[in-house]
Amino acid sequence: MQIQKDFSLRHYNTFGLEATADYYAEAQSVQELTEILQDPVWKSAPKFILGGGSNVLFTKNVDALVIHPEIQGIHKIKEDELNVWLKVGAGEIWHNFVMYCVEKNYGGAENLALIPGTVGAAPMQNIGAYGAEIKDIIESVEAVEIETGDVRIFSKAECNFGYRESIFKKEAKNQYIITGATLILSKNPVLNVGYGDVQRTLQEMNATEPSVKYVSEAIMKIRRSKLPDPAVIGNAGSFFKNPEIPVKQFELLKDVFPGVPGYPVNDEKTKVPAGWLIEQAGWKGFREGNIGVHEKQALVLVNYGGGTGSEIKLLSERIQDSVEAKFGIRLNAEVNFV
Ligand code: EPU
Repeated sequence: MQIQKDFSLRHYNTFGLEATADYYAEAQSVQELTEILQDPVWKSAPKFILGGGSNVLFTKNVDALVIHPEIQGIHKIKEDELNVWLKVGAGEIWHNFVMYCVEKNYGGAENLALIPGTVGAAPMQNIGAYGAEIKDIIESVEAVEIETGDVRIFSKAECNFGYRESIFKKEAKNQYIITGATLILSKNPVLNVGYGDVQRTLQEMNATEPSVKYVSEAIMKIRRSKLPDPAVIGNAGSFFKNPEIPVKQFELLKDVFPGVPGYPVNDEKTKVPAGWLIEQAGWKGFREGNIGVHEKQALVLVNYGGGTGSEIKLLSERIQDSVEAKFGIRLNAEVNFV
């Protein structure tokens, strides 16, 4: 495996931020990964695992060996009358995998169309959109332990998925490199079109008999209409998580701000759209120098080109402070700071 020194990560993060990796290596297979992890030269070196770079904010150079899993392949490993089990390499582009499923009319991934990033990074933060999350179709995740180079299979239960959370962001943080995932797709798709925007868009498209293909097209249409394309404007999708607050606090908030939207999570918690809070705090469309808040989706911070990670971090803190001052809610970042 080729190891490059002083490697620019500019084209390896969707914010398009300049950051240099001390060392950089692409692993094409599990075996290559194991080899480098067990190599005495690299064993004690600090390591940083970079997937599609779509959920990371580089605020400084990376003084580590950056490993980029490039493991490819979509393999059918099992099939019955109802479902098909696909083992997918961590280096596959997530959206390409979704398109593969749509093409074959396999259901389950279509609501997650156009989410940037790789298959390996997707379980890490349990990617989700329009009423679906990757956890709904995951059977297991394959990973290599950084310390030993051993391969381990995590069952869905062991992944401990939550809202934009998994064991890989918590208890097992920085301990494993995800090398692949086994996903269960349906051969008799049950479409998930409960989300208002999706229903409206399907109607606009005159999709009287919605299919996996139509739903994926509706999702792509919605995303393209409000989320900036990272190839054009640097961004990492939602910068913050939508906060979940106690129902009581939500009711008090509603007394003061009758327009506040909220979605029940359970009997105790209500989820409030961070985009609404940020917009109401006056940040939507804000621009300072080369960075700002997207004009169509206040939850997305953007780099118009030439901005730095530190500037974006500072802006995110100003937003957190002002939202907290106005609504008494502290937003938490979804993006990982480096
Ligand atoms: N809203 C505003 N102003 C804004 C943005 C949103 O008022 O500028 C309000 C609107 O009332 C809207 C509500 O917020 O009805 C929800 O907005 P939207 O449907 O755009 O979704 P979101 O809650 O902002 C979440 C995910 C997205 C995912 C969409 C669709 C998180 C942190 N974000 O965003 O995921 O695509 O739902 O399901 O949960 C991502 O994680 O990177 C991401 C893009």
